Amino acid sequence: MQFSNKVVWITGASSGIGEHLAYAFANRGAKLILSSRNEQELQRVKQNCRPETDILVLPMDVADFESVPGRVEQAVAHFGAIHILINNAGISQRSAVKDTLFEVDKKIMEVNFLGAVAMTKAVLPAMLKNKDGQVVVISSVMGKLGTPRRSAYAASKHALHGWFDSLRAELYEDGIKVTIICPGYVYTNVTINALTADGSPNKQMAEATRNGLDPGIFAEKALHAIIREKEEVLIGGKEILGVYLKRFFPSLFSRIARRLKVS
Ligand SMILES: NC(=O)c1ccc[n+]([C@@H]2O[C@H](COP(=O)([O-])OP(=O)(O)OC[C@H]3O[C@@H](n4cnc5c(N)ncnc54)[C@H](OP(=O)(O)O)[C@@H]3O)[C@@H](O)[C@H]2O)c1
Repeated sequence: MQFSNKVVWITGASSGIGEHLAYAFANRGAKLILSSRNEQELQRVKQNCRPETDILVLPMDVADFESVPGRVEQAVAHFGAIHILINNAGISQRSAVKDTLFEVDKKIMEVNFLGAVAMTKAVLPAMLKNKDGQVVVISSVMGKLGTPRRSAYAASKHALHGWFDSLRAELYEDGIKVTIICPGYVYTNVTINALTADGSPNKQMAEATRNGLDPGIFAEKALHAIIREKEEVLIGGKEILGVYLKRFFPSLFSRIARRLKVS
């Protein structure tokens, strides 16, 4: 078993990408810590993992920053070490800047960016002590570009790249790896849970998401990148070409972006 005796902590493990990463790691013998706010859903994911899997369900809100160090203490006391931390918890957005309450911008930055920062800073001392560890971040294609009605979401994902690229450089000599994964469209509840202008959930599945990559297939591809300790990968369908379009033909990308009618 490739990950036997490895402890993998997944945030946002109660659904979608996090849930399927849990199954993929469980199938390879990893010990798991499953976190998100909804304990009942975390227990469901636990029940669906390979039965022999050693799993700690640790409910938490990654944006409740003061509670994070205590959760990390609990996890380290339980398993003795954390080998891989996967910062996956996140919320998307469906609202134009002019309509969006500042509280919504703040919440998206707190969950998607500062939550990952708080988790990583709290886990880092244990990894540094063992001179072993890998921090994985689930960013997005939106971490590389901006489109209408995604301002705070795109900002939170761009911020992850700056922070975690710096961390990777700092930790090179310590043997701690940083892997940033940028998904395109993956078939999950992300657009149903996305926040609208007043902070209420969107409650609608976007067509592009429904037609996106199966989350199980996504998880296998992500695992492949994690095993190879890739610094950064894009995983998705043809939408990931937008990243290259923006990089090599920025004016053309800009003209396309302003016409996008994204749901
Ligand atoms: N699906 C896509 O097309 C796509 C594309 C690009 C990037 N992504 C990224 O992939 C990640 C996973 O999203 P998904 O597609 O799997 O969507 P999802 O099904 O909505 O899952 C989001 C997860 O994040 C958790 N979460 C949300 N707020 C949290 C908080 N404050 N504290 C702890 N956990 C929290 C949710 O659990 P609780 O509600 O139980 O807390 C849930 O487990 C996100 O970072 C998202 O931005 C997804």
